[in-house]
Parts: sequence; C-alpha cells; structure tokens
Amino acid sequence: MEIIDGKLISAQVKAELQIEVDKIRLAGGKIPHLAAVLIGDNGASETYVASKIKSCEQIGFKSTLIRRDSTSTEAEVLEIIDQLNKDEDIDGFIVQLPLPAHINVDKVIEAIDPKKDVDGFHPINIGRMAKGLPAYISATPFGVLELIKRYKIETAGKHCVVVGRSQIVGLPMSILMQRNTYPGNCTVTLVHSRTQNLKEVCLQADILVAALGKPEFITADMVKDGAVVIDVGLTRVVDESKKSGFALKGDVKFDDVAPKTSFITPVPGGVGLMTVAALMHNTLLASKNEIY
Ligand code: GUN
Repeated sequence: MEIIDGKLISAQVKAELQIEVDKIRLAGGKIPHLAAVLIGDNGASETYVASKIKSCEQIGFKSTLIRRDSTSTEAEVLEIIDQLNKDEDIDGFIVQLPLPAHINVDKVIEAIDPKKDVDGFHPINIGRMAKGLPAYISATPFGVLELIKRYKIETAGKHCVVVGRSQIVGLPMSILMQRNTYPGNCTVTLVHSRTQNLKEVCLQADILVAALGKPEFITADMVKDGAVVIDVGLTRVVDESKKSGFALKGDVKFDDVAPKTSFITPVPGGVGLMTVAALMHNTLLASKNEIY
C-alpha cells in the first residue's frame, strides 16, 4: 500500500509553475493574473480563497481579491463579472461558491467569459471537455488526474467507480476517466444516492473515486483488495480538541480501508491540496492563451 502524497505533488506542481513564471518574467512576458470574487462570509470559502491568493504570491502570479458582503445583489455580482471579462490584465478569474441563496449560480457562471473561466465551470468548458476538445478542466478532477499520472497508476481497461454525481466533481471525473487518453480509457460506473447495490458496485472497482461528501461513508467491506482509492471528500466536522474547533474528514474510513488498497489518498494531505495547484496551472494556460 502506498499513500499518495498530495502535499509533495502539489508542491512539485507549484515549483514547476514558479520556474515557468520566472522564465516569463525574464523574457518580459505577461505575468499571469488571477482574480477571485468572494461574496459573503462563509468560513470555508474564506479559507479556500485565502489559500488561492497565497499560492499566487508564492508562485509569482499577480492576484486580485474582490470581496462583497452577503447582501450584494445578483446584478452587482454580474457587473463585477462584466468588468473582469473586459479587464485585459486579468487572465482568469473565479467566483467562489457557494453564493448566497438569492443569487442564481448558473446565471453567474454563464456570465463568465469561457476564456477566463479557470475554474472550468462554464457549460462551454464542460461541453468542450466532454468532447475531448481543449478546455479548462476544473480543479478537483484535474488534481485527481495529476495524482494518478505522477504515481504512474495504470488506468487503461480498469473499472473506475465514481461515487457522487456533483456537477463539479463526480460528473466531470466520470467523463474524464472514460476518455481515450491517459489517465483514462477506464470502464466507468457513476453511482449516487439512488443507486441500488451501491456496495456491490464499489466492490468491483479497480479505481474508486469517492466524491459524495459524506464523512467516512466508504468502509473496508466496500473496497476490493488492491484497489486504488481516491478520496475527494472534505467535510468539516466539529472537533473540540482542535484549535480551529473542527477537523476535516474524507469520504473514506481511511484507517480500515488503507491496508486493502494499492494506493490511497489521505484527508487532509491528498486531493484537497492539489486543487489550488490545478487552479494555478489553469491560470498559466489562460495567460498563455493555450486553451483558446
Ligand atoms: N467551492 C468549492 N470548490 C470550489 C472551486 O473549486 N471553485 C470555486 N469557485 N468555488 C468552490
């Protein structure tokens, strides 16, 4: 059993990006510039956005944070997006989710210029990804693919079971793993809360991607010996013993499942750290106009 080290790999990816930015700077090229829009005061969102901005600083990207309180109207958010779409210095931007309930998230995402949609959430990017055209791939699926690649995990012909059908993880993951490329060429099954015999299907997985957001849902009796287990879950649970007052839990009961696997990602220290590296990667692609 090998533990996939998201901390190590994300640091490698960021170091590679930093080298590229240094080269761009020396050549007098355009320094990648990411903007993040944060509406309201969701604690987890604040942490995520802060780590995105910090990563920009570490790598040498420019960053801009646009904050508004939770009473902002949809029209105000759409106006910010319009400005960012037009701003030639901004290569890419994200609108941190979730948004306050009175704002229509689909409307907001569709207002983003697909060329600047470094989160890969716009229907045009999702459609292009599904067709195998160049597209921004959203951070979490990209992070998972990168871990699989860097650990040289075989995927062709394997049965990949994705647990969870969220728009930003489960669905894109299932599309990416069946593509005719590496990592991919899997036989993919997507299971969800209405699936019958979920445990039996999971037991058939050579590669199990848990992305349903239920802490420790995947137990040892659901995992085949030698399977690769990728845990995308990241739920905050109250833990008085921690300074922050909460602990992060994955979707996999790690201590019981790990001994059965060939590779497994821990939480924290696995996929989560890769997501910021993936966003930085997309921002560099945007600044070099490599997708569009
Ligand atoms: N909320 C949770 N994950 C993400 C993400 O990857 N991007 C944005 N914009 N919001 C999120």
